[in-house]
Amino acid sequence: MNVIIFLGPPGSGKGTMSEKVAGATDYAHLSTGDMLRQAVADKTPLGEKAEEYMKKGELVPDELMIDLVEERLKSGSGGGSYMLDGFPRTMNQAELLEKALGAGEAGGKGKEAIRNVFFLDAPREVLIERLTGRRICRKCGTNYHIKNFPPGVDGVCDKCGGELYQRPDDTKDTIGRRLEVYTRQTEALKAHYESMGLLVYIDADRDVKDIVADIVNVLKRDGGGDSRQ
Ligand code: AP5
Repeated sequence: MNVIIFLGPPGSGKGTMSEKVAGATDYAHLSTGDMLRQAVADKTPLGEKAEEYMKKGELVPDELMIDLVEERLKSGSGGGSYMLDGFPRTMNQAELLEKALGAGEAGGKGKEAIRNVFFLDAPREVLIERLTGRRICRKCGTNYHIKNFPPGVDGVCDKCGGELYQRPDDTKDTIGRRLEVYTRQTEALKAHYESMGLLVYIDADRDVKDIVADIVNVLKRDGGGDSRQ
């Protein structure tokens, strides 16, 4: 199995880059945020449990998250190459992922399956501006931004004509909480993956196509997944 991970604060562009890189490679995009939002919309038992945490900008408990990801990895739906967007987010999730990918022994197969960890970085004021201006299509999920990537007609998706909405956790207060939670619970993963020699620093305060080109070049160089670009 080949796995690449997108790590970074809310609004750094994990979802945007994963979508584009997935279109240019054999990696299947797996976003835990999208999976949870779908579970909430479908009112599944997981969705009912997760909704309270998501509304407040808190992380959903690790034991719920690892089951969700492990189930998807085992389904084989991505043909063995996965791009993880928003997972892992705690040290415990990182360890559980390594265990799920291999035998879980130190230096074992779990770590080898992780090809690269792309750390997307952008200044706090840029993150806040991106999140408050993000709009998403209710029907097809296409991501817009009221200034950076506006739709042709206000509030209407260019691709399918669906209604654009603002995520309930993209309010100023909840964004502040999410950034705080990121610093407290997720940022330490940078050092973890750096010590494993897997971290690739990406300046995410640039044009989307330049960021995507850098990521695709690293994947080509390291030979993880067949790049089609
Ligand atoms: P999740 O959906 O993963 O949210 P997040 O990490 O807060 O990240 P975002 O989706 O907000 O931002 P992004 O980095 O993907 O940026 P995007 O590309 O959209 O998680 C939501 C919640 O689910 C969590 O709070 C938690 O409760 C729960 N959860 C999820 N995973 C979990 C886990 N593993 N464990 C526990 N709980 C979990 O870009 C943002 C905007 O900026 C867009 O409008 C985009 O168009 C624009 N933009 C992006 N890049 C650029 C650029 N280069 N230039 C200009 N504009 C840009």
